[in-house]
Amino acid sequence: MTASQSSVAVPVADGGAAIDTRALRKAFGTLVAVEGLTLAVKRGEVFGLLGPNGSGKTTTIRMLCGLLAPSAGAATVAGFDVGTEGEQVRRKIGYMSQKYGLYDDLTVIENISFYGTIYGLHGSTRAARIATLVRELDLEGRINQYAGTLSGGLKQRLALACATAHEPPVVFLDEPTAGVDPASRRRFWEIIHTMARRGTTILATTHYMDEAARCDRLAFMSRGHLIALGTPDEVTKQFGAMSVEEVFIQLQHQDERKSEMGKRKSNVGQGVGR
Ligand SMILES: Nc1ncnc2c1ncn2[C@@H]1O[C@H](COP(=O)(O)OP(=O)(O)OP(=O)(O)O)[C@@H](O)[C@H]1O
Ligand SMILES: [Mg+2]
Repeated sequence: MTASQSSVAVPVADGGAAIDTRALRKAFGTLVAVEGLTLAVKRGEVFGLLGPNGSGKTTTIRMLCGLLAPSAGAATVAGFDVGTEGEQVRRKIGYMSQKYGLYDDLTVIENISFYGTIYGLHGSTRAARIATLVRELDLEGRINQYAGTLSGGLKQRLALACATAHEPPVVFLDEPTAGVDPASRRRFWEIIHTMARRGTTILATTHYMDEAARCDRLAFMSRGHLIALGTPDEVTKQFGAMSVEEVFIQLQHQDERKSEMGKRKSNVGQGVGR
């Protein structure tokens, strides 16, 4: 793909949804990680995917990135089907995984350059893009430092630079700020919101509720199911809560009760405690 192709207008599905899922499901053997997930994320939206550990957020993102085949249902990202057009999907997305995927023994500039090349950037186009990323992500003065020696906040910004080297219209961020200090987290989200204002669609997971409160819309997942959806204000009102954090805690307690009931049923079925 050339740089000019990467900046072509995004083919969006269904009147503007950048991400569109219909009854998406993923099972690993008997474990159902995602069940019946239907949602649409608008172009330029900052969309937060929330839920306790193991609720299916990463599995959802991996399906939407075309890295994991859905067991059932369908989804389009930037207008392409994740099941049948994985290659086109991967060209249209940036993915920052929970593990970042940086090369510790490459410098900052080498990491960005490497990802730029993978995404099809060359010559002066690649050099110009690298310069923009270094400037916009505050990496100046660090370009020759090995990625493995960077602080958490810098690693995170470098990972974002690598994931967006090809200016993808849709960006998936899986817990991008885990373990990062508050000032770096704030700076990171400012950058994310700037990208969204320019038209990039962002789907991010986070366990930080101050970040969730700043998303345009939120989806709460519990044990693979979508259990609440709306703007931070809408979900807060819907649950009669004072804050997104309170909603999350209510939902997590609900989730734990369900899990406990599930365990009791299965123990009774197996004759445990008789
Ligand atoms: N490759 C796999 N094989 C088997 N089970 C898996 C696999 N990947 C994920 N799971 C299971 O699917 C469920 C959902 O996992 P997932 O990683 O999507 O959760 P998550 O919401 O991202 O959690 P966290 O907040 O801890 O990152 C978990 O029970 C997990 O153990
Ligand atoms: Mg996860």
